[in-house]
Amino acid sequence: MKIYLKIWRQKDAASKGKMVDYTMEGIEGDMSFLEMLDILNEELITKGEEPIEFDHDCREGICGTCSLQINGRPHGPDTMITACQLHMRSFNDGDTITIEPFRAKAFPVIKDLIIDRTAFDRIQQAGGFISVNTSGHTIDANSIPIEKEKADDSFYAAACIGCGACVAACKNASAMLFTSAKVSQFALLPQGRVEATDRVLNMVRQMDIEGFGNCTNTGACEVECPKGISLENIARMNREYLSASLKG
Ligand code: SF4
Ligand code: FES
Repeated sequence: MKIYLKIWRQKDAASKGKMVDYTMEGIEGDMSFLEMLDILNEELITKGEEPIEFDHDCREGICGTCSLQINGRPHGPDTMITACQLHMRSFNDGDTITIEPFRAKAFPVIKDLIIDRTAFDRIQQAGGFISVNTSGHTIDANSIPIEKEKADDSFYAAACIGCGACVAACKNASAMLFTSAKVSQFALLPQGRVEATDRVLNMVRQMDIEGFGNCTNTGACEVECPKGISLENIARMNREYLSASLKG
């Protein structure tokens, strides 16, 4: 296939970026999207040009780093997959593909397609954990019975990989889907109830400090989430927040 690319190039956080055109020939459908970028980078390096910086690690949909806005959609045209799981067979010979970093005030561009997502880390640090007694008297997790339905819902919430596609998809750049998944995975389990009040108050406060927008229930986040994180988590977080605020 012959593919035309329009890729965001930006030298550093302080520089103004712009879209740059590249043409690639001999692209095969079985190549992954990131392999296609690897080949382009090899060509650029051979020509003595700067390669395109993009984040990636696991390349199997687990780490959440490969955050690319492809043809205007976070992670590209296919649903329930990350950019690293996307293959070139999803495109046609002669297609033009635009590749940009995720856009949000709280995710500033560091270079080319790489964004700073440490805002998510700080939300996690604000309460996305449980405090466990590690003195040697830790209760075995399996000795605490948990209803199957709640265990399943907690597991589904814990599937969030922190990629940021929900923020990139939202017209308000809201991080409610991410934060609600991190709140829900603990709120549903007895182990998470001990710190539940502080957790939701602190995580929501940090989310606001980071400059993410408000949720206006459009649901674009759920549509673009590669892990199928449900809007039900946002409803659960809102209930948790209301109850915590009344206690506070
Ligand atoms: S909720 Fe989905 S889209 Fe948002 S960070 Fe988690 S996995 Fe990514
Ligand atoms: S590189 Fe890890 S999810 Fe894509």
